[in-house]
Amino acid sequence: PEELLITFKGVLYPGGLCSAENFQALERMEFRKDDVILVAYPKCGTNWVRQILNDLTSATSKKKEEASPIELVQMLEFGAPDKFQKIKNSSSPRVFITHLHYDNIPKAVFDIKAKIVVIFRNPKDAAVSYYHFYNNNPGLPTISSWDEFFQKFMSGEVCWSSYFDHALAWNKHMDEENIMIITYEDMKENLYGGVKQIADFLGFCLPEEKIQTIAENATFESMSNKSQETHGKFAPVLFRKGTVKDWKNLFTEAQSQEMDAKFEECLAGTKLGEKIKY
Ligand code: PPS
Repeated sequence: PEELLITFKGVLYPGGLCSAENFQALERMEFRKDDVILVAYPKCGTNWVRQILNDLTSATSKKKEEASPIELVQMLEFGAPDKFQKIKNSSSPRVFITHLHYDNIPKAVFDIKAKIVVIFRNPKDAAVSYYHFYNNNPGLPTISSWDEFFQKFMSGEVCWSSYFDHALAWNKHMDEENIMIITYEDMKENLYGGVKQIADFLGFCLPEEKIQTIAENATFESMSNKSQETHGKFAPVLFRKGTVKDWKNLFTEAQSQEMDAKFEECLAGTKLGEKIKY
């Protein structure tokens, strides 16, 4: 049922995890220059890069890796306002994650020039992953068919709104020095290279073996093997297949063409459009 969702500033969110009070408190949150923020449209690789960032920051500081599984505190828009006290007391470097649209990310993040890592994924694969997620998550409405979900995805009537709006917004910020945009597909192709690139962007100087270990721990196989411990009941749907081009199993030819046309209209010839492997 739709009542599982809430709307805030015109965007749908899961009501079990997000609240207007939390969004308002988030606006007042203080950020630090050494905070690292991971931004991802849903299903583009949030949990994957989150682990890499957690591992990189704990390798470069005395900070103990926080053990809790899906860390609601780490996800900016989840949880209740009382979490901000805990956030305030936690030691640097802090890693936060969010699915928020560029315009809804607290301005303080940009003002202080915290480092922002953004991951994008082929929207066809993101849509398929999102469809399975909706239907295996009691906190989200069940969608009767793939065709219905596809239409919702295309029109942005899904939680965190339209993939294409997110992409259009980030496309304007491709060259800012505190922002790095990576893709799921590049990470799949060369995980070691991806981890190294993130470490370099963050200014972390780590021995090659450490980068290697972090990359080995971040393969789909290794993360999904541990996922029961790290993500509990959400493990099967958060670590479903981890592949590229799974969209071919669900998209009809017409749907594929519809998305191609949308991609073309929004992103063709843009820097982000070139980067997103399509
Ligand atoms: S969420 O719910 O938005 O936070 O989901 P998110 O973590 O962004 O995306 C889930 C998809 O990422 C895949 N995944 C991985 N792929 C490759 N390597 C690793 N290590 C990895 N970890 C997670 C996960 O399987 C989901 O994609 P699908 O296509 O559904 O398998």
